[in-house]
Amino acid sequence: MTDIPSIMNKEKLLVVLKELGSSRTLYTLLCIYGVSKVLYHTFLDPLRNVPGPWWAGFTSLPYSIKKLQGDISSYVKDLHKRYGPVVRISPEVVSVDGAADVRKIMSTYRYPKSQSFEDVLLSENMFSTTNESYNRSRRKQVGPAFSHTGLANIEEDVMKSGIISAAPILHRVPFIMVQLRKETNIMFSFVHDSIKARREGIKSGEISKDRLDVLQMFLDSTNPDGSKLSEKEIFSETFLMLAAGTDATAMSLTATMHMLTLYPEVFEKVCNEIRSTFTDRSQLIRYSEAKDKLPYFVATVYESIRLLPIVGGLVSRDSSSEGVVLSGIVVPKNVKIGLYFEGANRDPELYKSPESFDPSRYLGPEGDLLKKETFSFSHGVRICPGRK
Ligand code: HEM
Repeated sequence: MTDIPSIMNKEKLLVVLKELGSSRTLYTLLCIYGVSKVLYHTFLDPLRNVPGPWWAGFTSLPYSIKKLQGDISSYVKDLHKRYGPVVRISPEVVSVDGAADVRKIMSTYRYPKSQSFEDVLLSENMFSTTNESYNRSRRKQVGPAFSHTGLANIEEDVMKSGIISAAPILHRVPFIMVQLRKETNIMFSFVHDSIKARREGIKSGEISKDRLDVLQMFLDSTNPDGSKLSEKEIFSETFLMLAAGTDATAMSLTATMHMLTLYPEVFEKVCNEIRSTFTDRSQLIRYSEAKDKLPYFVATVYESIRLLPIVGGLVSRDSSSEGVVLSGIVVPKNVKIGLYFEGANRDPELYKSPESFDPSRYLGPEGDLLKKETFSFSHGVRICPGRK
């Protein structure tokens, strides 16, 4: 049998290609495409009423370029300055920088993390999941390790071992991949060996099984269906804790040191407070002592990470199947909302002279209230469990 449709298709295709070859047809097609885009954007685009630069409705190229350059922060800051607290920055993304709006989104599971989080680290874990009950149960399981008793319990080990550094996501960047892949492998082995050593230690009686730390919580926990956590789950959650905790802490300390070098008068005050409170230089200062007796130092850390939070770009959430009203602007359903923590941390409604470095804002009872407003550890239902 002759393959009539395929012959027809070939002939038709040739005619179409010939037609396209004539520049007039191409020009007409481009015009139709352009006009339909403009008509869609003017009358149908669900985000047409969200303020923003005109091109944001048509292309994400400028945003993607800034993303590649690692400069989203200043770019988004500039757009918010020009267009207000809710800005469209690409055809699908709306950025939000008002503290009240960011709090509204973060305070509930109604606006879930975007799906793009799901593959960030190994298999599903507390950070990557978009599932409310999964996240709730993991947070509950690990909670006791972050209580005051839990933290005091592991302080001795931290004092002995120090903190290791990790950069698990950067291995996707091609140029530095080889070195970082090596480091990720070191972390994999570290987590694997730690789990094995803990099990053996408990079996031999060398380690108490009542130990209150992150690893023990996951080893002992049960899932809502009554089953123990699988090897894969224990590995993924423990690896996450290592990755999320180490670099966030290192970056926050770097931000603090950076600010101290920029403001020598603050540095001097911090030194004086520490030296006058702890006169014995050989004594190691414990976490609880620092918290209770070094208010200016603690305030300096809060102020440094207010201005330089570890999340420099946007944290993604979905506007849910209902949509949400932010600063009086309707953000329709199923839109990606980028939460700009750095902007919310400088909201003039919350902070006097938000751009200035002033640790004293975090002193006294008012300062304590302000600490709860920071977005440096995220906020609401997905707030950082390691923030203490
Ligand atoms: C100064 C230190 C830290 C800072 C500034 C910090 C900041 C943050 C921020 C901003 C988030 C939200 C990220 C997002 O939603 O995209 C987060 C989440 C998280 N952090 Fe931290 N963090 C710190 C230390 C730690 C430590 C020490 C641990 C654990 C040992 C930890 C474990 C986590 C986990 C598991 C999440 C995910 C929570 C969830 O999605 O429910 N962090 N952290």
